Amino acid sequence: MTQVKATNVHWHEGNITRDERWKALGTKGATIWFTGLSACGKSTIACALEQALCNQGVACYRLDGDNVRFGLNKNLGFSAEDREENIRRIGELAKLFADAGILTLASFISPYTKDRDAAREVHKEAGLDFMEVFVDASLEVCEERDPKGLYKKARAGEIKGFTGIDDPYEAPTSPELVLNAGETDVAACVNECLRFMADRGLIEIAD
Ligand code: ADX
Repeated sequence: MTQVKATNVHWHEGNITRDERWKALGTKGATIWFTGLSACGKSTIACALEQALCNQGVACYRLDGDNVRFGLNKNLGFSAEDREENIRRIGELAKLFADAGILTLASFISPYTKDRDAAREVHKEAGLDFMEVFVDASLEVCEERDPKGLYKKARAGEIKGFTGIDDPYEAPTSPELVLNAGETDVAACVNECLRFMADRGLIEIAD
């Protein structure tokens, strides 16, 4: 639970509404939250999706687990508490991006259901669309891929508390979308995301 230390602060309303901003910018914000094991394909799919959206002139931005830990979250590790704070900050950050009118593609292992639910909740409170996408690839597949050699290190005991090896991953029970990323190729996963986003009225796709 986050300790609230900010006192004597007051919300400052802007001069325009979100709708006015989105209309003026010709955009629509929402958060697409990719969750799954390390190496399941979250970042690869988000990168390809970003490219497809950009090609259509859709304002979008990627927030990526590894990348965010180079800056904003460089003071956080991988304990349950630090992962909670990691996801709390990203949930808030994604909310701001979405509010600005950006289709925000967040890819984080985000192993705990309660932390993902909290990210969903801050969007809901703000009246913003949040879609959880479970990038489903088995541990065997992820470990076989092991692009960063981290599973190997975790098996050798050189990394402690690695998700899927000696740290938990709670798979979503009711995500908006499941991508079978162990068997489906990246292009097909991206198409599924695009179709899904079109169905939600977030983008238009040419048939
Ligand atoms: S999360 O669990 O807090 O959501 P996040 O998505 O930000 O994790 O970062 C995951 C990335 O950090 C992995 O893809 C991997 O490259 C790296 N990493 C380093 N240590 C660990 C660890 N102990 N568990 C999982 N990922 C780790």
